[in-house]
Amino acid sequence: MTKKVAILISGGGSNMVKLVESMVGDHPARPVLVGSNDPQAGGLKKAAEMGVPTFAVDHRPFKGDREGFEAELNAKLEAADPDIICLAGFMRVLTESFVRKWEGRMLNIHPSLLPKYKGLHTHQRALEAGDKEAGCTVHMVTPALDDGPILGQARVPVQPDDTPETLAARVLVQEHRLYPAVLERFAQGKTDPVYLD
Ligand code: GRF
Repeated sequence: MTKKVAILISGGGSNMVKLVESMVGDHPARPVLVGSNDPQAGGLKKAAEMGVPTFAVDHRPFKGDREGFEAELNAKLEAADPDIICLAGFMRVLTESFVRKWEGRMLNIHPSLLPKYKGLHTHQRALEAGDKEAGCTVHMVTPALDDGPILGQARVPVQPDDTPETLAARVLVQEHRLYPAVLERFAQGKTDPVYLD
């Protein structure tokens, strides 16, 4: 049975584009919705151009009322009734009650080799630590930030002259390989982690 996938973004949505592009042919999943907390998110236009229904719930009017924002977000998601939610460059922290509702069906991609560098500025922190390699992780979303079971990782070398921007660009290329690979496996019920070289 084809799995229905909703994707949440906050910006350009390059990971979302790769996920949508991957769900074709005999792939076990199909995109049913792309949503954002920013009505101006560039990825919303890209999703619409690919024929995927979109929505935006602007988080700013809810400032401080995280539950109110999430109630709106949930209403949009429930209407699409997804089997899987992919957070892809989604930059809002979700409350425990929201996560509990979707736990086991919600994935996230994080631009570090978790458990290292949870949170923000991952590439800068890896460079400051003098790491020789970096990468990205797809994990199940649990209430603790960037902390759920790992479903896949991809590694890149750190170059001596790297800046956070050059490292981010190298990691992003791997994100675009890893997330589609993990989603296809997850849609088939596979949760043993995949490590891309
Ligand atoms: C990128 O920095 C990526 O590492 C992280 O979110 C940011 C935007 O991704 N996952 P996208 O282009 O919006 O998918």
